[in-house]
Amino acid sequence: MKTAAEQASSKCPVTAGTPAVQAKARDVVLQVRDLAVDIRTHRGTVRAVNSVRFEARAGETLALLGESGCGKSMTAKALAGIMDPVCDLADGQILLNGTDLAALSPKERLKFAGPGLGIVFQDALTALNPVYTVGTQLGEAFRIHRGLNAKQARLEAIDLMKRVGIPEPESRVNSYPHQFSGGMRQRILIAMAVALNPRLLIADEPTTALDVTVQAQIMQLLRTLREEGQMAVILITHDLAVVAEEADSVAVMYAGNVVESGPVSEVFADPRHPYTKGLLESVPVHLERGAQLKSIPGSPPELHHIPAGCVYQSRCPLVQDICRAERPALRAVDNSPTRTAACHFSEEITNA
Ligand SMILES: Nc1ncnc2c1ncn2[C@@H]1O[C@H](COP(=O)(O)OP(=O)(O)OP(=O)(O)O)[C@@H](O)[C@H]1O
Ligand code: SF4
Ligand SMILES: [Mg+2]
Repeated sequence: MKTAAEQASSKCPVTAGTPAVQAKARDVVLQVRDLAVDIRTHRGTVRAVNSVRFEARAGETLALLGESGCGKSMTAKALAGIMDPVCDLADGQILLNGTDLAALSPKERLKFAGPGLGIVFQDALTALNPVYTVGTQLGEAFRIHRGLNAKQARLEAIDLMKRVGIPEPESRVNSYPHQFSGGMRQRILIAMAVALNPRLLIADEPTTALDVTVQAQIMQLLRTLREEGQMAVILITHDLAVVAEEADSVAVMYAGNVVESGPVSEVFADPRHPYTKGLLESVPVHLERGAQLKSIPGSPPELHHIPAGCVYQSRCPLVQDICRAERPALRAVDNSPTRTAACHFSEEITNA
């Protein structure tokens, strides 16, 4: 069994080129700039996502990694324009193929949503409507966005079911969600998300509710669809081994902030933020799928009590006075074009 860093650096040479080569070869599909999301609570407004910045490229997977409650799903929902009513997009740009989704009206955004961006959640049963057949639900995107009639949409639904590996689609197209296994339901959800060949697919812990064998099959399906459609994929996970195996780049989030980002092989081999370092040290040396992030002492700050200065200060073994006084900006590490970290001492925290 390989360590996370070894797994990350032993990928296929075609996809694991130098960052500069990758940057030239792959188109940037999504650029997120200074994204901020506020939540209105009865105790006042809190910032759940703050100055989040990252990029996702065609045919590549970007992992959003971090402990529970650090803002991964909130970021995903903000990108997809499906935030809870108590949440507001407070700042930032969401550039999908150059169009700023954050600047669109809800109606314009809906028009964009199907063709441009698909999203898959962990809980396929609640994401599907129990009273409609899967054929009706899969065909909806074609009726709304392509103006197809019910018969044409049904044929597209059958095609989609084939594409995501659902057996006997011609007969199963008339079945209801509860008549499918958990793995098959997740395939249906993925089919809905990729129906209109989006440029970006967001998968928010898509395999958490599934057993290990099915998890591997779903990850394989996502890889196949990514390659076929040259989609950019954002994969949200707690699992370092999944990041090492599946992702090209990673953005590590803490208390609503991206604290480190870059190619997985580089970040895992030489983390430049104490939180990333802590995550990597907190799981067994030989990572296996399912290893959870849990053993950094302490817990993230509550949104109502985010400190001035560095968001990680209460758990950081390297904290200094400057960390309590000034919030470190997310900036390039060692002038790298692909690596960033938000720590006053990122240049000193190195394995090199
Ligand atoms: N509707 C809501 N009202 C109030 N607070 C919320 C709401 N939705 C999310 N939050 C808070 O926003 C923060 C970020 O939540 P988010 O769901 O994005 O976390 P996450 O990183 O996806 O966690 P997990 O790994 O557990 O899914 C958390 O502190 C959460 O409690
Ligand atoms: S800025 Fe200071 S407290 Fe924050 S991660 Fe770096 S060393 Fe730790
Ligand atoms: Mg979540």
